[in-house]
Amino acid sequence: MTTDSPTRADAASLRVGGQELELPIVHGTDGDDAVDIGKLRGETGLITLDPGYGNTGACTSAITFLDGEDGILRYRGYPIEQLAAQSTFLEVAYLLIWGELPTREQLDRFVSEVTHHTLIREEMRHFFDSFPSDAHPMAVLASGTVGMSNFYPDSQNIFDPDAVEITINRLIAKLPTLAAWSFKKAIGQPYVYPRNDLGYSANLLHMMFAVPSEAYEVNPKVAEALDLLLILHADHEQNASTATVRMVGSTHANLYASISAGISALWGPLHGGANEAVIDTLERIVADGGSVQKWVDKAKDPNDTFRLAGFGHRIYRNFDPRAKIIKSAAERVLAATGADDDLFEVAQRLEDVALNDEYFISRKLYPNVDFYSGMIYRAIGFPKTMFTNCFAIGRLPGWIAQWKEMMESPETKIGRPRQVYIGPDTRAYVAIEQR
Ligand code: ACO
Repeated sequence: MTTDSPTRADAASLRVGGQELELPIVHGTDGDDAVDIGKLRGETGLITLDPGYGNTGACTSAITFLDGEDGILRYRGYPIEQLAAQSTFLEVAYLLIWGELPTREQLDRFVSEVTHHTLIREEMRHFFDSFPSDAHPMAVLASGTVGMSNFYPDSQNIFDPDAVEITINRLIAKLPTLAAWSFKKAIGQPYVYPRNDLGYSANLLHMMFAVPSEAYEVNPKVAEALDLLLILHADHEQNASTATVRMVGSTHANLYASISAGISALWGPLHGGANEAVIDTLERIVADGGSVQKWVDKAKDPNDTFRLAGFGHRIYRNFDPRAKIIKSAAERVLAATGADDDLFEVAQRLEDVALNDEYFISRKLYPNVDFYSGMIYRAIGFPKTMFTNCFAIGRLPGWIAQWKEMMESPETKIGRPRQVYIGPDTRAYVAIEQR
C-alpha cells in the first residue's frame, strides 16, 4: 500500500493485480490516522487479516487519547496527571460519560444519584449465599452484574435516554456493593450495607472492612489513594475488556450484560488480572530466597511460558504514565498505613533489574499500571483476589462511556469480524463404523 504523501494524505492507493483502489484516509485530532477499508471486500474480494487487532481501528472515539511512544494518556483531552492530582473519581466518571467536566450543580446531582442507589436488591443476598465460599470475587462480580438486569427490566430500553441514565447511575452506585459483598462472602463475614454519609471510595472501604460488632474508621489517606487508583483505571480506549463491552453492546444486549462481559474479559492475567499475578510472582520470588535475577532470566527464556506480570503493554513502548503516578502513591500509602511490605522492596529491585536488561530494553517492556497497583491494594488490606474487582470498579465509567458513544454513533453496526478459512475443503460424511 502506498500513500500520495508520506505525512497527511487523504487517500491511500492499493494495487491488487491490475486493479488500483483508492482508500480514504481518516484523520484523528491526535495520534494515528487510518485507512478506511470499508470498500475493500466489495471492490477486490479481499479482507484484511490482523490477529490481535494490533493495526486495526474498530471505531472512531472522542473519549480517551493515548500515545504509547511518548507515554501520554488523556481523558476527554485532560492529562491524566492533572486529573490524578486535582479531580475525584466521580468527577472523572462524569467527564468520561457525559463528555465535559461537570459544573458544581451537575456534580452534586450526579454524586447524589450515585449515593442514593448503592443498595442492591435484598433478594440478591441469596444470590451471594448460593456461591461456594471459595468462589473467585471476579466470577461473583460478573454474575452479579448481569444478574442485576433481572431486577431492572428498564435496562432493556437501550435507546431511551432516561432508562440509560438511571442504568448508568445504578451500575456506578452498585458495583462497589457487589464487589464488597463478594469479598464478605469469601471470608464468611456478614454483608455490610453502604453508608450515604461516606464518599465513593470511603464507602467501598467501609463495606469491605467494617464488621457489625465494632466501629470502623475510614483512613482518609487510604480513601484518597483508592480514589486515585480508580481515576487511573477509569478508561484506556480500545483495550480487550472495552472492546468486549463494545462488541457485546453492538448486539443490543443491555448495559448490565455488556459490562458483565467486560468484567470477564478483564479477569484474564494478560489484562486486569495481571495485578493479582504480580503479587503472586513477588511472593514466589520471596519464597524462593529473593533472587530477582533468576526470575528475570526465567521470563526471558523462550522455552518457558513464564512472563513477568506487570511488564509490557500492547500500546505503551515507554513508561506507562499511570505506573509512574502509582509508584509514588504506593510509597505514600505504605507510609500512611505503616505497612512494612517486603514485596515492595522486591518489586523495586525487580524493576531495576528489568529496566537495565537488554531483553526488556530492546522489546520496550516497561512497568505497566498493574505493577505497583497491587502494592497499594495490599497495603489497604485487600486480598489478592479482590484486586481485579477494584480495577473493574475503576474501569466501569470508561466501559459505560465507550458503550454510550457506540450506541449514539450512526456508524455503529453489529461487531462481526471475518476470517480467512484454512480448514478442510468439502468432504463427504463418513459413517461412524467406517472411520
Ligand atoms: N515478560 C517477558 N517477556 C515479555 C513480556 C513480559 N511481561 N511481555 C512481552 N514479552 C516479550 C514477548 O515474549 C515477545 O518477545 P519475542 O519478540 O521474543 O517473541 C515481545 O516481548 C513482545 O510481546 P508480545 O506478547 O508480542 O506483545 P503484546 O503486545 O501482544 O502483549 C502484553 C502485551 C499481553 C501486555 C504482554 O506484554 C504481557 O503478557 N505482559 C504481562 C501481563 C501484563 O502485565 N498484563 C497487563 C497489561 S496492562 C492491562 O491490561 C491493564
